[in-house]
Amino acid sequence: GQHTDSDLADGGLNARLAGMLPDIVQQMASRVERGEVARYIPPLARIDPRKFGIAVVLRDNSVLVAGDADEEFSIQSISKVFSLTLALGKKGDGLWSRVGREPSGDAFNSIVLLEHEKGVPRNPFINAGAIVIADVLLATHQPKEAIGEILRFVQSLADDDRISVDRHVAQAEMATGFANAALANLLKANGNLDNLPTHVLGVYHHQCALSMSCRQLARAGFFLTSGGRHPVTCRQVVAPERTRRISALMMTCGHYDGSGDFAFRVGVPAKSGVGGGILAIVPGIASIAVWSPGLNQQGNSLLGTEALEILCRQMNWSVF
Ligand code: DON
Repeated sequence: GQHTDSDLADGGLNARLAGMLPDIVQQMASRVERGEVARYIPPLARIDPRKFGIAVVLRDNSVLVAGDADEEFSIQSISKVFSLTLALGKKGDGLWSRVGREPSGDAFNSIVLLEHEKGVPRNPFINAGAIVIADVLLATHQPKEAIGEILRFVQSLADDDRISVDRHVAQAEMATGFANAALANLLKANGNLDNLPTHVLGVYHHQCALSMSCRQLARAGFFLTSGGRHPVTCRQVVAPERTRRISALMMTCGHYDGSGDFAFRVGVPAKSGVGGGILAIVPGIASIAVWSPGLNQQGNSLLGTEALEILCRQMNWSVF
Protein backbone atom coordinates (compact mmCIF):
# COMPACT_ATOMS: atom_id res chain seq x y z
CA GLY A 1 0.00 0.00 0.00
CA GLN A 2 0.85 3.67 -0.08
CA HIS A 3 2.89 5.19 2.69
CA THR A 4 1.78 8.41 4.29
CA ASP A 5 3.99 10.65 6.41
CA SER A 6 2.39 9.34 9.57
CA ASP A 7 3.07 5.73 8.53
CA LEU A 8 6.73 6.57 8.07
CA ALA A 9 6.82 8.38 11.41
CA ASP A 10 5.25 5.37 13.11
CA GLY A 11 7.76 3.14 11.31
CA GLY A 12 10.50 5.03 13.12
CA LEU A 13 8.69 4.73 16.45
CA ASN A 14 8.17 1.06 15.75
CA ALA A 15 11.87 0.37 15.38
CA ARG A 16 12.80 2.27 18.53
CA LEU A 17 10.11 0.52 20.58
CA ALA A 18 11.09 -2.89 19.23
CA GLY A 19 14.48 -2.36 20.82
CA MET A 20 13.23 -0.73 24.00
CA LEU A 21 10.41 -3.03 25.17
CA PRO A 22 12.46 -6.25 25.61
CA ASP A 23 15.02 -4.16 27.48
CA ILE A 24 12.35 -2.88 29.89
CA VAL A 25 11.08 -6.45 30.40
CA GLN A 26 14.62 -7.52 31.28
CA GLN A 27 15.11 -4.64 33.70
CA MET A 28 11.83 -5.41 35.46
CA ALA A 29 12.64 -9.14 35.69
CA SER A 30 15.67 -8.34 37.86
CA ARG A 31 13.72 -6.23 40.39
CA VAL A 32 13.47 -7.83 43.85
CA GLU A 33 11.04 -5.27 45.31
CA ARG A 34 7.86 -6.00 43.35
CA GLY A 35 5.07 -4.73 45.66
CA GLU A 36 2.23 -6.81 47.10
CA VAL A 37 -0.25 -8.79 45.02
CA ALA A 38 -3.91 -8.02 45.91
CA ARG A 39 -5.08 -10.54 48.53
CA TYR A 40 -8.79 -9.70 49.03
CA ILE A 41 -9.94 -12.55 46.78
CA PRO A 42 -8.20 -15.93 46.13
CA PRO A 43 -8.14 -15.69 42.29
CA LEU A 44 -6.01 -12.52 42.56
CA ALA A 45 -3.95 -13.69 45.56
CA ARG A 46 -2.65 -16.68 43.55
CA ILE A 47 -1.21 -14.64 40.67
CA ASP A 48 2.56 -14.99 40.22
CA PRO A 49 4.22 -11.64 41.15
CA ARG A 50 7.02 -12.31 38.62
CA LYS A 51 4.64 -11.76 35.71
CA PHE A 52 5.31 -8.69 33.59
CA GLY A 53 3.85 -7.71 30.24
CA ILE A 54 3.74 -4.60 28.07
CA ALA A 55 1.99 -3.70 24.80
CA VAL A 56 2.08 -0.48 22.77
CA VAL A 57 -0.38 0.31 19.97
CA LEU A 58 0.66 3.12 17.62
CA ARG A 59 -1.48 5.40 15.47
CA ASP A 60 -1.06 3.19 12.41
CA ASN A 61 -2.58 0.36 14.51
CA SER A 62 0.70 -1.54 14.72
CA VAL A 63 1.19 -3.37 18.04
CA LEU A 64 4.51 -3.97 19.80
CA VAL A 65 4.60 -6.38 22.73
CA ALA A 66 7.11 -7.86 25.17
CA GLY A 67 7.05 -10.20 28.18
CA ASP A 68 3.72 -11.70 29.24
CA ALA A 69 1.75 -9.37 26.96
CA ASP A 70 -0.61 -12.10 25.72
CA GLU A 71 -1.52 -13.47 29.13
CA GLU A 72 -4.92 -12.40 30.41
CA PHE A 73 -5.29 -10.71 33.78
CA SER A 74 -8.14 -9.13 35.76
CA ILE A 75 -8.47 -5.53 34.52
CA GLN A 76 -10.45 -4.49 37.64
CA SER A 77 -10.75 -0.69 37.90
CA ILE A 78 -9.42 -0.10 34.37
CA SER A 79 -12.94 -1.19 33.33
CA LYS A 80 -14.14 2.13 34.77
CA VAL A 81 -12.74 3.91 31.69
CA PHE A 82 -14.94 1.83 29.39
CA SER A 83 -18.07 2.04 31.56
CA LEU A 84 -17.65 5.83 31.85
CA THR A 85 -17.32 6.10 28.06
CA LEU A 86 -20.52 4.10 27.56
CA ALA A 87 -22.42 6.08 30.22
CA LEU A 88 -21.36 9.41 28.69
CA GLY A 89 -22.71 8.14 25.38
CA LYS A 90 -26.09 7.52 27.02
CA LYS A 91 -26.39 10.55 29.32
CA GLY A 92 -23.97 13.12 27.93
CA ASP A 93 -23.12 15.95 30.31
CA GLY A 94 -26.25 15.15 32.36
CA LEU A 95 -24.06 12.53 34.02
CA TRP A 96 -22.17 15.22 35.95
CA SER A 97 -25.12 15.95 38.20
CA ARG A 98 -24.65 12.48 39.70
CA VAL A 99 -20.87 12.20 39.86
CA GLY A 100 -18.11 14.80 40.26
CA ARG A 101 -14.85 15.42 38.42
CA GLU A 102 -12.41 16.12 41.24
CA PRO A 103 -9.65 13.88 42.59
CA SER A 104 -10.58 12.51 46.00
CA GLY A 105 -7.18 12.29 47.64
CA ASP A 106 -8.56 9.17 49.31
CA ALA A 107 -8.29 5.43 48.72
CA PHE A 108 -10.30 3.93 45.84
CA ASN A 109 -12.81 2.30 48.22
CA SER A 110 -13.11 5.19 50.70
CA ILE A 111 -16.58 5.94 52.07
CA VAL A 112 -15.83 9.10 54.12
CA LEU A 113 -16.43 11.79 51.48
CA LEU A 114 -19.65 10.21 50.31
CA GLU A 115 -21.60 11.11 53.47
CA HIS A 116 -20.20 14.65 53.64
CA GLU A 117 -20.98 15.29 49.99
CA LYS A 118 -24.58 14.06 50.04
CA GLY A 119 -24.07 10.88 48.06
CA VAL A 120 -22.40 12.50 45.03
CA PRO A 121 -19.06 10.68 44.53
CA ARG A 122 -16.01 12.83 43.79
CA ASN A 123 -15.26 11.21 40.43
CA PRO A 124 -16.22 8.20 38.22
CA PHE A 125 -13.03 6.24 38.99
CA ILE A 126 -13.32 5.76 42.75
CA ASN A 127 -15.56 2.80 43.58
CA ALA A 128 -18.53 4.97 44.65
CA GLY A 129 -18.44 6.86 41.33
CA ALA A 130 -18.10 3.68 39.28
CA ILE A 131 -21.11 2.22 41.12
CA VAL A 132 -23.19 5.26 40.03
CA ILE A 133 -21.95 4.69 36.45
CA ALA A 134 -22.98 1.02 36.69
CA ASP A 135 -26.47 2.20 37.73
CA VAL A 136 -26.64 4.39 34.61
CA LEU A 137 -25.65 1.43 32.41
CA LEU A 138 -28.14 -0.84 34.14
CA ALA A 139 -30.93 1.67 33.38
CA THR A 140 -34.10 -0.39 33.06
CA HIS A 141 -32.30 -3.56 31.93
CA GLN A 142 -31.40 -6.73 33.77
CA PRO A 143 -27.84 -6.87 35.19
CA LYS A 144 -26.98 -9.60 32.63
CA GLU A 145 -27.84 -7.32 29.71
CA ALA A 146 -25.83 -4.41 31.11
CA ILE A 147 -22.81 -6.68 31.64
CA GLY A 148 -23.24 -7.99 28.10
CA GLU A 149 -23.30 -4.44 26.75
CA ILE A 150 -20.05 -3.51 28.55
CA LEU A 151 -18.39 -6.72 27.35
CA ARG A 152 -19.45 -6.20 23.73
CA PHE A 153 -18.28 -2.58 23.84
CA VAL A 154 -14.81 -3.60 25.05
CA GLN A 155 -14.66 -6.45 22.51
CA SER A 156 -15.58 -4.06 19.73
CA LEU A 157 -13.04 -1.42 20.81
CA ALA A 158 -10.29 -4.06 20.89
CA ASP A 159 -11.67 -5.79 17.78
CA ASP A 160 -11.37 -9.09 19.66
CA ASP A 161 -14.39 -11.19 20.64
CA ARG A 162 -12.32 -13.60 22.77
CA ILE A 163 -12.38 -11.08 25.66
CA SER A 164 -14.51 -12.41 28.51
CA VAL A 165 -15.60 -11.95 32.11
CA ASP A 166 -13.78 -14.26 34.57
CA ARG A 167 -16.61 -16.01 36.45
CA HIS A 168 -14.39 -17.00 39.38
CA VAL A 169 -13.24 -13.43 39.92
CA ALA A 170 -16.81 -12.10 39.57
CA GLN A 171 -18.15 -14.64 42.09
CA ALA A 172 -15.37 -13.87 44.57
CA GLU A 173 -16.01 -10.11 44.20
CA MET A 174 -19.73 -10.65 44.85
CA ALA A 175 -19.05 -12.83 47.87
CA THR A 176 -16.63 -10.39 49.53
CA GLY A 177 -17.73 -6.96 48.26
CA PHE A 178 -19.20 -5.75 51.56
CA ALA A 179 -17.49 -2.34 51.42
CA ASN A 180 -18.88 -1.81 47.91
CA ALA A 181 -22.31 -2.83 49.25
CA ALA A 182 -21.94 -0.15 51.93
CA LEU A 183 -21.14 2.44 49.23
CA ALA A 184 -24.08 1.31 47.09
CA ASN A 185 -26.48 1.47 50.05
CA LEU A 186 -25.30 4.95 51.01
CA LEU A 187 -25.73 6.07 47.39
CA LYS A 188 -29.24 4.60 47.35
CA ALA A 189 -30.11 6.26 50.68
CA ASN A 190 -29.05 9.59 49.16
CA GLY A 191 -31.21 9.07 46.09
CA ASN A 192 -28.27 8.58 43.72
CA LEU A 193 -29.14 5.04 42.54
CA ASP A 194 -32.22 4.29 40.41
CA ASN A 195 -31.88 0.53 40.79
CA LEU A 196 -31.50 -1.83 43.73
CA PRO A 197 -27.98 -1.88 45.23
CA THR A 198 -27.70 -5.67 44.70
CA HIS A 199 -28.43 -5.35 40.96
CA VAL A 200 -26.03 -2.42 40.51
CA LEU A 201 -23.30 -4.31 42.41
CA GLY A 202 -23.83 -7.28 40.08
CA VAL A 203 -22.97 -5.07 37.11
CA TYR A 204 -20.05 -3.36 38.87
CA HIS A 205 -18.44 -6.58 40.14
CA HIS A 206 -18.71 -8.28 36.76
CA GLN A 207 -17.13 -5.36 34.90
CA CYS A 208 -14.21 -5.48 37.39
CA ALA A 209 -13.82 -9.19 36.49
CA LEU A 210 -13.17 -8.52 32.80
CA SER A 211 -10.12 -10.52 31.80
CA MET A 212 -7.78 -9.10 29.16
CA SER A 213 -4.18 -9.29 27.96
CA CYS A 214 -1.94 -6.23 27.61
CA ARG A 215 -2.33 -6.52 23.83
CA GLN A 216 -6.14 -6.53 24.07
CA LEU A 217 -6.19 -3.71 26.62
CA ALA A 218 -3.86 -1.44 24.64
CA ARG A 219 -6.03 -2.03 21.56
CA ALA A 220 -9.21 -1.27 23.52
CA GLY A 221 -7.65 2.03 24.67
CA PHE A 222 -6.70 3.06 21.13
CA PHE A 223 -9.81 5.24 20.70
CA LEU A 224 -8.45 7.59 23.36
CA THR A 225 -5.27 8.23 21.37
CA SER A 226 -7.06 8.65 18.05
CA GLY A 227 -9.64 11.26 19.00
CA GLY A 228 -12.33 8.60 19.27
CA ARG A 229 -11.69 6.72 16.03
CA HIS A 230 -12.02 2.91 15.95
CA PRO A 231 -8.67 1.27 15.05
CA VAL A 232 -10.04 -1.03 12.35
CA THR A 233 -13.34 0.36 11.05
CA CYS A 234 -12.06 3.97 11.43
CA ARG A 235 -15.58 4.88 12.52
CA GLN A 236 -15.95 7.63 15.11
CA VAL A 237 -16.98 5.73 18.29
CA VAL A 238 -16.69 8.73 20.60
CA ALA A 239 -16.47 12.48 19.86
CA PRO A 240 -12.92 13.92 20.06
CA GLU A 241 -13.83 16.36 22.86
CA ARG A 242 -15.15 13.44 24.90
CA THR A 243 -11.87 11.52 24.60
CA ARG A 244 -10.07 14.63 25.88
CA ARG A 245 -12.33 14.79 28.91
CA ILE A 246 -12.01 11.08 29.70
CA SER A 247 -8.23 11.47 29.40
CA ALA A 248 -8.29 14.49 31.73
CA LEU A 249 -10.11 12.42 34.35
CA MET A 250 -7.56 9.61 33.92
CA MET A 251 -4.78 12.11 34.54
CA THR A 252 -6.37 13.69 37.64
CA CYS A 253 -8.15 10.66 39.17
CA GLY A 254 -6.88 7.50 37.43
CA HIS A 255 -4.52 6.45 40.24
CA TYR A 256 -6.67 7.55 43.22
CA ASP A 257 -4.54 9.08 45.97
CA GLY A 258 -1.48 8.22 43.85
CA SER A 259 -2.65 10.34 40.87
CA GLY A 260 -0.39 13.31 41.63
CA ASP A 261 2.67 11.11 41.94
CA PHE A 262 1.83 9.27 38.70
CA ALA A 263 1.40 12.55 36.78
CA PHE A 264 4.67 13.80 38.25
CA ARG A 265 6.63 10.68 37.35
CA VAL A 266 5.03 9.55 34.08
CA GLY A 267 3.15 12.58 32.74
CA VAL A 268 0.42 10.93 30.65
CA PRO A 269 -3.23 10.05 31.43
CA ALA A 270 -3.61 6.52 32.78
CA LYS A 271 -5.93 4.22 34.70
CA SER A 272 -4.83 1.48 37.09
CA GLY A 273 -6.50 -1.63 38.48
CA VAL A 274 -5.75 -3.83 41.51
CA GLY A 275 -5.03 -6.72 39.14
CA GLY A 276 -1.76 -4.86 38.45
CA GLY A 277 -2.67 -3.49 35.04
CA ILE A 278 -2.32 0.11 33.85
CA LEU A 279 -3.73 1.60 30.63
CA ALA A 280 -1.80 4.73 29.62
CA ILE A 281 -2.63 7.14 26.80
CA VAL A 282 -0.17 9.28 24.88
CA PRO A 283 -2.67 11.50 23.01
CA GLY A 284 -2.29 11.30 19.25
CA ILE A 285 0.62 8.87 19.54
CA ALA A 286 0.15 5.64 21.47
CA SER A 287 -1.99 3.47 23.73
CA ILE A 288 0.06 1.48 26.26
CA ALA A 289 -0.91 -1.39 28.57
CA VAL A 290 1.41 -2.76 31.25
CA TRP A 291 0.84 -5.55 33.73
CA SER A 292 2.79 -6.41 36.87
CA PRO A 293 0.63 -7.83 39.70
CA GLY A 294 2.55 -6.39 42.67
CA LEU A 295 0.98 -3.17 44.00
CA ASN A 296 2.29 -0.12 45.84
CA GLN A 297 0.70 1.49 48.95
CA GLN A 298 -2.07 3.13 46.90
CA GLY A 299 -3.05 -0.12 45.16
CA ASN A 300 -1.38 0.75 41.85
CA SER A 301 1.10 -1.51 40.03
CA LEU A 302 4.58 -0.83 41.43
CA LEU A 303 6.64 -2.04 38.46
CA GLY A 304 3.96 -1.09 35.94
CA THR A 305 4.38 2.54 37.02
CA GLU A 306 8.15 2.24 36.93
CA ALA A 307 8.10 0.69 33.44
CA LEU A 308 5.86 3.49 32.14
CA GLU A 309 8.16 6.06 33.73
CA ILE A 310 11.16 4.56 31.90
CA LEU A 311 9.34 4.16 28.58
CA CYS A 312 7.82 7.65 28.55
CA ARG A 313 11.13 9.25 29.55
CA GLN A 314 13.04 7.41 26.82
CA MET A 315 10.41 8.16 24.16
CA ASN A 316 9.99 11.74 25.38
CA TRP A 317 6.26 11.09 25.77
CA SER A 318 4.41 13.51 28.04
CA VAL A 319 1.41 15.79 27.83
CA PHE A 320 3.42 18.50 29.56
O1 DON B 1 -14.25 -2.96 43.73
C1 DON B 1 -13.16 -3.22 44.21
O2 DON B 1 -12.77 -2.72 45.25
C2 DON B 1 -12.26 -4.16 43.47
N1 DON B 1 -12.95 -4.83 42.43
C3 DON B 1 -11.02 -3.44 42.96
C4 DON B 1 -11.20 -2.18 42.19
C5 DON B 1 -9.84 -1.62 41.77
O3 DON B 1 -9.21 -2.12 40.86
C6 DON B 1 -9.28 -0.49 42.54
N2 DON B 1 -8.00 -0.13 42.05
N3 DON B 1 -6.93 0.02 42.09
